[in-house]
Amino acid sequence: MPEFKRAHLTSEPAFQNLKSLHAKYASSINMRELFEQDSKRFEKYSHRLETPDGEILFDFSKNLINEEVLNALIQLAKDRKVEEHRDRMFRGEKINFTENRSVLHIALRNRANRPIVLNGVNITNEVNDVLSKIKVFCEEVRSGKWLGYTGKSITDIVNIGIAGSDLGPLMVTEALKPYGHNGSLKAHFVSNVDGSHLAEVLHLVNPETTLFVIASKTFTTQETLMNAHSAKQWFIEHALNPDHVAKHFVALSTNEEKVTAFGIDKKNMFGFWDWVGGRFSLWSAIGLSIALYIGFDNFEKLLDGAFFADEHFKNTPLEQNIPILMALLGIWYSNFYGSETHAILPYDQYLHKFATYLQQGDMESNGKLITSNNLEVDYSTGPVIWGEPGTNGQHAFYQLIHQGTRLIPCDFIAPVFTHNPLRGGLHHQVLLANFLAQTEALMKGKTKDEVVTEMKKSNLSAQEIERISPHKVFKGNRPSNSILLPKVTPFTLGCLIALYEHKIFVQGSIWDINSYDQWGADKQLAKTIEEELKDPFKLVTGHDSSTNYLVNYINEKHRSNQN
Ligand code: F6P
Repeated sequence: MPEFKRAHLTSEPAFQNLKSLHAKYASSINMRELFEQDSKRFEKYSHRLETPDGEILFDFSKNLINEEVLNALIQLAKDRKVEEHRDRMFRGEKINFTENRSVLHIALRNRANRPIVLNGVNITNEVNDVLSKIKVFCEEVRSGKWLGYTGKSITDIVNIGIAGSDLGPLMVTEALKPYGHNGSLKAHFVSNVDGSHLAEVLHLVNPETTLFVIASKTFTTQETLMNAHSAKQWFIEHALNPDHVAKHFVALSTNEEKVTAFGIDKKNMFGFWDWVGGRFSLWSAIGLSIALYIGFDNFEKLLDGAFFADEHFKNTPLEQNIPILMALLGIWYSNFYGSETHAILPYDQYLHKFATYLQQGDMESNGKLITSNNLEVDYSTGPVIWGEPGTNGQHAFYQLIHQGTRLIPCDFIAPVFTHNPLRGGLHHQVLLANFLAQTEALMKGKTKDEVVTEMKKSNLSAQEIERISPHKVFKGNRPSNSILLPKVTPFTLGCLIALYEHKIFVQGSIWDINSYDQWGADKQLAKTIEEELKDPFKLVTGHDSSTNYLVNYINEKHRSNQN
């Protein structure tokens, strides 16, 4: 394999150039003025993706950029060989260099069926085989033909998994609820090892009509295995015969040995491969709960949407390439303005889990500090991703975004059309008005003069105006991206998710970190303490004084059964 090496980021001329541009413009660039001076600003910095489900509009004009900055950012992507790196990923090269693995979630939605050969095997055929198995299974369950141990059809699916084996299916089934309503299946998700999570779901379901979908790439994850074993125990207590497990438990995993050891027959296992990262796995067998809930046809549309985004990412020049532009804008704020977070603000209730989903997608991918040359970075990498659906966020944390001391770049995401046009669409108009007003206000701000004029209309005394007005000033000049989907459909959602996946890739590539391992998510950490909590009579001394005290405190309370 040809060597793929890049210089240290901060020594790249393009990086140095951006540093000088930041020094030149940071205190003078003013978006409000830029809009006033250039009536074409919106056209210059916005992009449209024509999808079969309608146009997706990306407006990047409300950012702290001008042409010089954007060109310099694009130069950075060129110097960091982002396109070459992207092509390596698509070719199946082992860009996950710490685990020596290919990164091929794109192969899971390779809707053109192009051969992708890995170790002499065309994995496109393997992917299609699993998809066919999912299709048949979905049809059996959704049509009511798959019968539980008392001969009844399935009414509830319980996905047991965590992180990549939970968040994707959870986010998508929530986002595509309108496509699940007509089916008779309800979808539930259990992820937390806290027994309350499982207990609450078990209260809602009937063992005779419930299908447990145990989702775990490794099938060794403590939380998932514990929940799966408890669910199995609960089920057998009701079904009174372990043989019935076969009708009520299926597994999504790469680990056949562990799946069979758990007691799930391999014919009820849907496989995938080590070249699928957990947080990029909703397109694989891990998406079974999605396919069961929205139907296989709609699941295919989700894949089609992601494929559309892959094609865009692969074939579009940098200057119009959405994930590349999104990534570069993020780099501009993280590495030059020192922004530490990035807010994801969907104006769509169905997307209420989108920020949580991206939290893992982005932070587990780019929360790294060692480069491919084994050097520690001297620049910041992945930002803190957070967010909530608007308008709820407006009444919680927007205050800080508008008037706080931190620069928080935001992605505003909304569908132009809603699935629920209540009161003739009035709700949606109000929702969209809030979206638009927020992005405008973040950009424009409100000057002291504007505040004073406004206050004068309220007949306040000059003294009162003088006292209060500084508090009502909004500095503005706060950046945001606006993303308008035509409607949240399986296709547009698939496309949106994949664009964000590629944005994460591009940033990791520029930072020269491995976005595809996750050594920081140590699954072993709690093991020692777990043993210590099992024996409350033994004094624990092996940790620091704080941890020792906390362990002994809990054990002491349990000994004396206090609560
Ligand atoms: O948190 C670490 C992690 O490995 C994630 O990357 C993954 O999505 C999650 O655990 C669950 O892992 P598994 O699917 O193997 O149970």
